[in-house]
Amino acid sequence: MSNNLLKGKKGIIFGALNDQSIAWKVAERCHEEGAEFVLTNAPIAMRMGEINGLAEKTKSKIIPADATNTEDLENLITQSTEILGNKLDFVLHSIGMSPNVRKGKHYTESNYQFYNQTMDVSAISLHKTLAALYKHDALNEWASVVALTYIAAQRIFPDYNDMADAKSLLESITRSFGYHYGIKNKVRINTISQSPTVTTAGQGIKGFTEFINFSEQMSPLGNAPAVACADYCISMFSDLTRYVTMQNLFHDGGFSNTGVTQQVIEKFGGQ
Ligand SMILES: NC(=O)c1ccc[n+]([C@@H]2O[C@H](COP(=O)([O-])OP(=O)(O)OC[C@H]3O[C@@H](n4cnc5c(N)ncnc54)[C@H](O)[C@@H]3O)[C@@H](O)[C@H]2O)c1
Repeated sequence: MSNNLLKGKKGIIFGALNDQSIAWKVAERCHEEGAEFVLTNAPIAMRMGEINGLAEKTKSKIIPADATNTEDLENLITQSTEILGNKLDFVLHSIGMSPNVRKGKHYTESNYQFYNQTMDVSAISLHKTLAALYKHDALNEWASVVALTYIAAQRIFPDYNDMADAKSLLESITRSFGYHYGIKNKVRINTISQSPTVTTAGQGIKGFTEFINFSEQMSPLGNAPAVACADYCISMFSDLTRYVTMQNLFHDGGFSNTGVTQQVIEKFGGQ
């Protein structure tokens, strides 16, 4: 269903790897709502080639960029404004990766080279992207930047490992840059804290299936699906949310404000 909420808006979408990716759903919904955008991902992710299908479907160009590399980001931004013929109105940061998680390192025995990579890819990449946009004056007034995060930034979820630290930093960068970019150009910057979702990144977390079931039963509305997250992103990119900035917005079916549910309590009965 389209309401033309993004008609005439131009943007960049980071992080569509395959059709499970949250960024993939966001791109599909942005297209339906009338936006034009460039798709980007790390050069290594391009090799899988699935993004080509999305580009065709959404009539978008693809520009590879490693989000930890300032040169790549500057090239992405200058090329995107050229291709789209204008400054940008929205950016989605949908990037996460932890070598410590991938290699099964326990949090207490983190490899610090890996730890730095986790921070760089999953959090500092947002700072680098915003700094490049700022330097090139590439965002229109009232443009909207959204980064995806998880509640492990506020509460301990042991298997989320060093990604929790990265998400805390990501949310802090959102506030700090949100201040500076708000003052400079009325740009708004927010994070959306999404329910656990079945994607390549999600499934990399140990015990993910059990965890997603737990979360489902701890959320009065159930886990929010990826498509609903995409809808929320659309509302944040639209002109209907102009004064929302520097926020961490929970999109989690009520999980974040639930102490316990009857369904979970009942699992501890029966003595
Ligand atoms: N899946 C979940 O349960 C869940 C829950 C809350 C938040 N999130 C967040 O949503 C975002 C998207 O993840 P997803 O679940 O759609 O998984 P995904 O694996 O589809 O997306 C992660 C993306 O990050 C990209 N990436 C990794 N390193 C990069 C680099 N150096 N430069 C550019 N891109 C790079 C990957 O290629 C991939 O496209 C992440 O920030 C993730 O932490 C996911």
